[in-house]
Amino acid sequence: MKIPVFQIINYSLIILVVILFVRYLWDVIFNPNYQPPGWRNARKEGRLSRTLLKLEKNYPDKVRFFNFWFQVERLKKEQVPGAFAELGVYQGESARVLHHMDPERRLHLFDTFEGFKNQDLAVEKGEAATYTTSNFADTRISKVLATIAGNKNISVQPGHFPGSALKVVHEKFALVNIDADLYNPTKAGLEFFYPRLSPGGVIMVHDYNYKWEGVVKAVDDFCKTVPEAMVVLPDMETTAMIIRRKF
Ligand SMILES: C[S@@+](CC[C@H](N)C(=O)[O-])C[C@H]1O[C@@H](n2cnc3c(N)ncnc32)[C@H](O)[C@@H]1O
Repeated sequence: MKIPVFQIINYSLIILVVILFVRYLWDVIFNPNYQPPGWRNARKEGRLSRTLLKLEKNYPDKVRFFNFWFQVERLKKEQVPGAFAELGVYQGESARVLHHMDPERRLHLFDTFEGFKNQDLAVEKGEAATYTTSNFADTRISKVLATIAGNKNISVQPGHFPGSALKVVHEKFALVNIDADLYNPTKAGLEFFYPRLSPGGVIMVHDYNYKWEGVVKAVDDFCKTVPEAMVVLPDMETTAMIIRRKF
């Protein structure tokens, strides 16, 4: 019996899709290698909330997730005082993770909640220059708060940063996640948060890679002005991290 070529291709594609799907499910359910020993031990000792356990299962970037977790755990252990902040919240995915890692901390959320602004886009080069004001505009504060499903410690600072930071000029910070993609807000974020960072506090800047020239330039220029070294993390989009020296 002769089987037509297109049928062979069809069956091969179906088999390939099934194999990939089974592999994906297997990884999601059984791959314990994603989880560092400290996390597994904390889970065994009942120190992780059900919400956080669920977030870890579904968070696509395990390196980013566990870096957040190790930093938050260090801040608790070393009793580093101060609030948490995120500049660049979009729909609240990373903010939700940070909040549920330490729900007792105040978490300030900075975003236009309307996407990028023209004055920031105007200075961009490379891939970022192809973005427009409609990118990341599909969000709403109420939707973000519903996604986070947190407690009263969440404080929203809507508007264009750094203008939106006026209300928190007297705040001290222990952890800051800058994820604003562009040169202007990244530079402004580093300049605003670093002097307000507690000794031992941490600033992370997401997207420290060639696709976001503005982010790389803002971080590199800023690092020349402070005594701390910057650490590059191998998460999916690469993060630059600075820990404020203690003494
Ligand atoms: C990549 S998204 C944030 C993603 C989010 N951190 C996450 O992991 O789910 C970048 C966000 O930065 C915000 N943003 C960029 N420039 C800003 C500025 N100058 N002021 C306030 N928000 C800004 C955009 O509105 C957008 O929501």
